[in-house]
Amino acid sequence: TLIQHLPADMPKTIIVSNRLPVKVTKQDDAYQLSPSEGGLATGLGSIYKQDDNLWIGWPGIEITDKRDQHMVTEDLKELSLLPVFLTQSEINKYYEGFSNEVLWPVFHYYVSTYAHYSQANWESYQLVNQKFCDAVLEVANPGDTIWVHDYQLLLLPKLIRDARPDVSIGFFQHIPFPSDEMFRLIPWRSELLEGILGADLIGYHTFDDVRHFLSAVSRLLPVQVSANVITLGERVVVVESFPMGIDDKKYGDLSQQENVKTEAELIKETFRGQKLILSIDRLDYSKGILQRLQALEILLENHPELVTKITLYMIVVPSRDQVPQYKELRDNIDKKVGNINGRYRTLEWSPIQYFYKSLPIETLSALYSSADVCLITPMRDGMNLVSKEYVASRVHNDGVLILSEMAGSSKELIDAVIVNPNNIQEVSRAIVRAINMPRAEQSRRMILMRQNVSKFNIGHWVKIFMDRLNEVKQMQRSMQTR
Ligand code: G6P
Repeated sequence: TLIQHLPADMPKTIIVSNRLPVKVTKQDDAYQLSPSEGGLATGLGSIYKQDDNLWIGWPGIEITDKRDQHMVTEDLKELSLLPVFLTQSEINKYYEGFSNEVLWPVFHYYVSTYAHYSQANWESYQLVNQKFCDAVLEVANPGDTIWVHDYQLLLLPKLIRDARPDVSIGFFQHIPFPSDEMFRLIPWRSELLEGILGADLIGYHTFDDVRHFLSAVSRLLPVQVSANVITLGERVVVVESFPMGIDDKKYGDLSQQENVKTEAELIKETFRGQKLILSIDRLDYSKGILQRLQALEILLENHPELVTKITLYMIVVPSRDQVPQYKELRDNIDKKVGNINGRYRTLEWSPIQYFYKSLPIETLSALYSSADVCLITPMRDGMNLVSKEYVASRVHNDGVLILSEMAGSSKELIDAVIVNPNNIQEVSRAIVRAINMPRAEQSRRMILMRQNVSKFNIGHWVKIFMDRLNEVKQMQRSMQTR
């Protein structure tokens, strides 16, 4: 196994998440590796390799042939990654069916429209969490730290704890924890909470998520909750908020790279005489893409003087496109973009440049540094690292961030232009305000946001989580010896 690289007596950290930071794709019978999408993978992806860490997760594709599995495992081993292979049925039931048709919609407050409860999918969720547990147990030694990530693996902390009480277990959830009124609708709510409570330290992005989790626990389980500490028999579990940061230096440096600067110049040249408004999201109904398009439509209606003077550069990164609601959303975006462009475009100009694909990080960086405005308006978002990436890329302290108050990052980036994404009029007015904002005001806001993003960066995030986990472990030990 992978662990043969490492001396067996050295304690190590094992990161576990559904998706590895690298995804495997197959083209003409050859397997290829490329970076994964999403906040978790991009956020932690740049630092996990430090200190001999290991990362266990799904490589993003069904591979059934044993020889192929072996080959892919060998390639990933070089990157300190250990794959958990999922069958097509597990992908359909555990990943698409339960994780993304129960947990994702309920946790983002899309209960009545999108949640689809199925006993078979729940059973698959349990089995796949056990499969991840088996992979962890194969490589974990006493004294190791296991850091479990996100909603696809809510049962895993308890499964590991039951099998290996001698390891430290941290759990971090990258998406919101909903109000108890939402959470308690899930048929398997108690099992899910008990699963999470297998961890010693539980982290969320914001204080509100912590509050919601604690009230769900105190209402649904027979445990004692005092402030942010939960007592379960002999054990204590601590719940806290740790807002995730990014590798700010990487984005600052990228923007100064020659090839990126050249690409940024080209973009500026292409949109000369216009204000460039950038939006980047994974395809997801929680991101408020359709509502954002509506806001642009209203703006063009109310401000004929801005026709031909602004462009929305909208990148939607393909995601979960086998889940029906995502397919439908994609069609609706296509339609809406078509409508707006059809109505307003001229020979030389169209209001929206729409891309449905993932772009290399250099191109993203060139876009971050050339966009006058970054428009991020999710209906609900755990953190939203794109907002931080934009800020980190603005090394000249200019540009305007418009940010939804429903994104976790709005609690930190308070100098953005904050909007309620449901208020289409307000979003539309915010765009007008952003494109007219004086340079001095842009600078004042951007400097404050940049300080925040660089102080509370990804290194800081990992450190405070790990330090806290160690403290909790020590607290538990001293309780046992008392
Ligand atoms: C969000 C979730 C991650 C997930 C990512 C991409 O950021 O918090 O856990 O990996 O979306 O979604 P996907 O379903 O493609 O892994």
